Amino acid sequence: MNDYQQFIANIKRKTGIDLSLYKEAQMKRRLTSLYEKRELKNFQQFFAAMEKDEGLFHEFLDRITINVSEFYRNAKRWEVLERKILPKLLAQNRRLKIWSAACSTGEEPYTLAMILSKFVPLADISILATDIDENAIARAQIGLYTERSLQEIPEEMKKKFFTKEGMYYKIDEKIKKAVKFKKHNLLADPFGRFFDLIVCRNVLIYFTEEAKQKLYHQFNEALRPGGILFVGSTEQIFNPVLYGFEIEDTFFYRKK
Ligand SMILES: C[S@@+](CC[C@H](N)C(=O)[O-])C[C@H]1O[C@@H](n2cnc3c(N)ncnc32)[C@H](O)[C@@H]1O
Repeated sequence: MNDYQQFIANIKRKTGIDLSLYKEAQMKRRLTSLYEKRELKNFQQFFAAMEKDEGLFHEFLDRITINVSEFYRNAKRWEVLERKILPKLLAQNRRLKIWSAACSTGEEPYTLAMILSKFVPLADISILATDIDENAIARAQIGLYTERSLQEIPEEMKKKFFTKEGMYYKIDEKIKKAVKFKKHNLLADPFGRFFDLIVCRNVLIYFTEEAKQKLYHQFNEALRPGGILFVGSTEQIFNPVLYGFEIEDTFFYRKK
């Protein structure tokens, strides 16, 4: 076993996170720059240092999770969701079962709730939002955001659902109530069933080809027939039919 493989095994034992399912070159680069900053020489020394230093362990977790997110990320796609996808899904079922997988600090599930509230009363909306990173979830539950993450949000939504508190924008309590957050590792934990819509964006890019393919099958199984998978704008599925999907629109796939 080489230095990195031994590290992978140690991390799996310590955290349950399997780094072998993340793209190796990218992950190694990110982690090497972190340990070199601490003047450590290899992954073995890095792991030993993390065992003694809780702060370094949290830096490591931050480095592997990459929580960058924003409201209405790739706004044109959310327009397609609003104009085409949701009306179709709602015509079949008024109470949609929705999952925002790898939701980071909440911008994505909250965007979903805001858009859905144009169609159905907020009290009738319940969105499951999950991430592997407990810190990100804790921040999502606080619901305070900087100007930067609100750049793409339509002005009327900003006015309706946020109040300014000093440097921050606080999200409306009714939006918050529509989202249930839970810790979940996409690469290890079981998936729910019968979802109408699964949103999983900007995380698949970090995974190996094999891990992605397994996830496409699992997402397909987790959807009801006719349900939709919404992926990130660099995450096109090349052969959707292989996984039981048809193309509904760019970056939207329908379970057959
Ligand atoms: C770049 S953010 C994407 C956030 C949001 N979906 C978006 O598109 O703006 C990636 C998120 O994936 C999460 N993540 C990484 N590996 C994961 C895993 N195995 N299971 C669940 N979430 C994971 C990270 O914690 C991070 O919050």
